[in-house]
Amino acid sequence: MRRTLTLDNSFELWLCCALEIMRITQRSFIGTVLLSLALGPTTKAGTFGLETLDLQYAEQGWGEPRANKSVDEHPLFIDGKRFEHGFGTHAISTFWIALSGKGDRFTATVGVDDEVGQRGSVVFKVVGDGKTLWESGVLRGGDPAKEVSVDLHGINKLLLSVGDAGDDINDDHADWADAKIAMMEGKPEAIAPVREPAIVLTPEPSPRPRINGAGIFGARPGWPVLFTIPATGERPMTISASKLPPGLKLDPQTGQISGVLKDRGVYQVKLRAKNAIGKTERTLKIVSGDKSALTPPMGWNSWNCFGCDVTEANVRAAADAMVASGLINHGWTYINIDDCWEAGRDAEGRILSNEKFPDMKALTDYVHSKGLKIGLYSSPGPKTCAGHEGSYQHEELDARQYADWGFDYLKYDWCSYGGIVPNADHAGLLKPYQLMRAALNQAPRDIVFSLCQYGMGNVWEWGAEVGGNCWRTTGDISDTWSSMSHIGFGQAGHENYAGPGHWNDPDMLVVGYVGWSAKVRPSRLTPNEQYTHISLWCLLCSPLLIGCDMTRLDDFTLNLLTNDEVLNLNQDPLGRQAGRIAQKGALEVWAKDLEDGSKAVGLFNLGEEEAPIIATWSELGRTGKQKVRDLWRQSDLGTFTDQFQASVPRHGVMLVRISRTK
Ligand code: GLA
Repeated sequence: MRRTLTLDNSFELWLCCALEIMRITQRSFIGTVLLSLALGPTTKAGTFGLETLDLQYAEQGWGEPRANKSVDEHPLFIDGKRFEHGFGTHAISTFWIALSGKGDRFTATVGVDDEVGQRGSVVFKVVGDGKTLWESGVLRGGDPAKEVSVDLHGINKLLLSVGDAGDDINDDHADWADAKIAMMEGKPEAIAPVREPAIVLTPEPSPRPRINGAGIFGARPGWPVLFTIPATGERPMTISASKLPPGLKLDPQTGQISGVLKDRGVYQVKLRAKNAIGKTERTLKIVSGDKSALTPPMGWNSWNCFGCDVTEANVRAAADAMVASGLINHGWTYINIDDCWEAGRDAEGRILSNEKFPDMKALTDYVHSKGLKIGLYSSPGPKTCAGHEGSYQHEELDARQYADWGFDYLKYDWCSYGGIVPNADHAGLLKPYQLMRAALNQAPRDIVFSLCQYGMGNVWEWGAEVGGNCWRTTGDISDTWSSMSHIGFGQAGHENYAGPGHWNDPDMLVVGYVGWSAKVRPSRLTPNEQYTHISLWCLLCSPLLIGCDMTRLDDFTLNLLTNDEVLNLNQDPLGRQAGRIAQKGALEVWAKDLEDGSKAVGLFNLGEEEAPIIATWSELGRTGKQKVRDLWRQSDLGTFTDQFQASVPRHGVMLVRISRTK
């Protein structure tokens, strides 16, 4: 509280003198000294334990922020030493504090809490107004604590962050022990994290007809074909095609192409779509040969939403929603059942589905009747990851059964095969996949083959060789920034191994309602993180498998999944995966070549505060004037020379297409 000025005491005298001296001398120093002596200290200097601030404003990757305790609610211990006070948290952790330029010094002792033993690895950071003031380097469980002492003069906003040291957040129990903020005056105040609004950027599709999707489709001759022409626009709509290859027919109302390709060859089919208000044309290239998945598969998979609780009803509902939501009109095709459909085998060794999937043939017929395709899951080992019947020593029988049931896609997940061949060498890693590919080739159906073994033995170097159409490059994704960003941005360097028919797979999407069980909840990724996720997966030519409950698609999630200009990057027929072309701290630029000669460029901000990011023409291999188009907003930004710059929000992206001016 400031003192009230009254002119009836000695204080009044001091004040008058001070002001008078300032007036006469025109020099403020002596006057100021006297003035402050007169007014007395406005507020006292003081030191505040971090645990006394409002810790509920801290955000962290797991558990709750704790005062004077570890995240697991034990006393704070680092390397055998106990601390009475401090803030126990878990990577990735951010805690913002307002100092209003009144801070003096921040001190603390930091480390991984002893409750995780030798596990856990973190990096502590003290950031003032966007500048890193102190960084711990990687600290692991059992490492000695590090002392922090940072000058805070002039800092308005302090950020205390704990990163996961690049290896995901498991066991990252982090302690800011004995942490204190010394203030010259006033109090430090915890800042409530800003809740990002979920802003829809994708414009509504036009009511006029438009044909979307890849514009290329590959299939093996001799086996059933199903391809639904993805088209937006008001219904009813009539779709026609000229020069369809022999053996195929088109239903003009549904846009479904079906039949059996008779001959090998490349067919340029002219598609036409017409409704009450307009018409459009587009060429579809049908390649009848040995390759399918000429563009990355797009669809849905049951795992990230329902996990082992998946039922036939969930799968039917997902197919229904794929059509009712209009996603099918943007190229979404597969409805894939993950683990937990299997029972045992019959007397002849044939695989059986469990009681949740009483009639597989009826289910595949249902999904096909909607113009969609359907996928299934198994393991080369005796058991799947969730402990159900795997395909070990039954590969041919199983491939035959999948084909007879009518499945179009197989995810083949290593898991218990590790028990059959512990420490498998290169040949050992390839073998089970070669075996199943050979079995699928014998089966009377065109089945996309998805390898799942988490990247072992640099699978990207040989996944195509064993006939994989895609291969998981990483462990399982979860709906956290740490998981998604490490997996996504960790794909740098894999770009040379992907191409039409064979794709790197950084795992399924975690937008919408997920939960790995019957209990689903909204993805924990922020809106900007979700834009980053979809933009990056499109740039990476990753298979796009929606991992959410399709019956709970909200407007924001639909906006993420229906932007044709963004999806086109993923489905571009050239099939070039993006690579990282520039990196400056937490700011990254990724780019990929497109069939029409333009470039798709993602400007990503992995940092904690909005920042300007520049993509230069020299890094992109361009010169002169270039047109830049914002793909999420589907709007031209103008013509730029030498570079393009955008201000990108925390964990967000600016996704553009750069093309030569005519
Ligand atoms: C593994 C895979 C997941 C999922 C589960 C099923 O963890 O990586 O994608 O298929 O198995 O049990």
